[in-house]
Amino acid sequence: SKQRAKWVVGNWKMHGRLADNAALLQAVVQGAGAFGEAVRVGVCVPAPYLAQVQTLLAGTSLVWGVQDLSAYTHGAYTGEVAGEMAVEFGATLAIVGHSERRAYHAESDERVAAKTVRALEAGLTPIVCIGETLEQREGGATEAVVGAQLDAVLAVLSVEQAARIVVAYEPVWAIGTGKSATAEQAQEVHAFLRARLAAKDASLAAVPLLYGGSVKADNAETLFRQADIDGGLIGGAALKSQDFLAICAAA
Ligand code: G3P
Repeated sequence: SKQRAKWVVGNWKMHGRLADNAALLQAVVQGAGAFGEAVRVGVCVPAPYLAQVQTLLAGTSLVWGVQDLSAYTHGAYTGEVAGEMAVEFGATLAIVGHSERRAYHAESDERVAAKTVRALEAGLTPIVCIGETLEQREGGATEAVVGAQLDAVLAVLSVEQAARIVVAYEPVWAIGTGKSATAEQAQEVHAFLRARLAAKDASLAAVPLLYGGSVKADNAETLFRQADIDGGLIGGAALKSQDFLAICAAA
């Protein structure tokens, strides 16, 4: 039996408009009452919508956050958003190291590690994303790749800090493709990651491990039933209230 907290977090990516956000969140808030304390439900939104989301979600059981943050607190970094700025709008979460940022914004393991530290220092829970490409999986390098990505982050954290992160395993080949990892494939990597965390310190076996990559209403339950899968990071399906709520119910 799993004692760890369950999480379902929507990653809206670069989607949303004021009217659509309001309709989506109103429906999610209405439906989320059913889950009570059992599942932590969150949304990570484009930064311009933080104020709107704060207004709509304040006083509800939902939490919210950003999809990235600067590695710095303030300064001459045009276009960047500091974790402290998100915190001013009630954010408690920050996705860090999503594969889209690693791929399109050249974020290195070291950059991701620095942003993880910044998120923690700003008072945000970092959701650290790791995952292999199809080529890496087919080359038998999955564990080497995700192990190195995780190690780069753990290397810069104290045990106390590491205990406050969430890790999301998102195989790149499963993101937005409609082709989820099978529950067995995901569980295998999650078990590996949990062991890797526990090797740093036994207490880190409690770090929540989320799966991301084409989680839908019809595959969520099988994935979330796995021993080392503590919930999901949801892309496309988080943009439809019925699908998102069904995924929350599966957790
Ligand atoms: O961060 C979540 C994401 O990368 C998964 O996206 O659309 O495959 O659920 P999607």
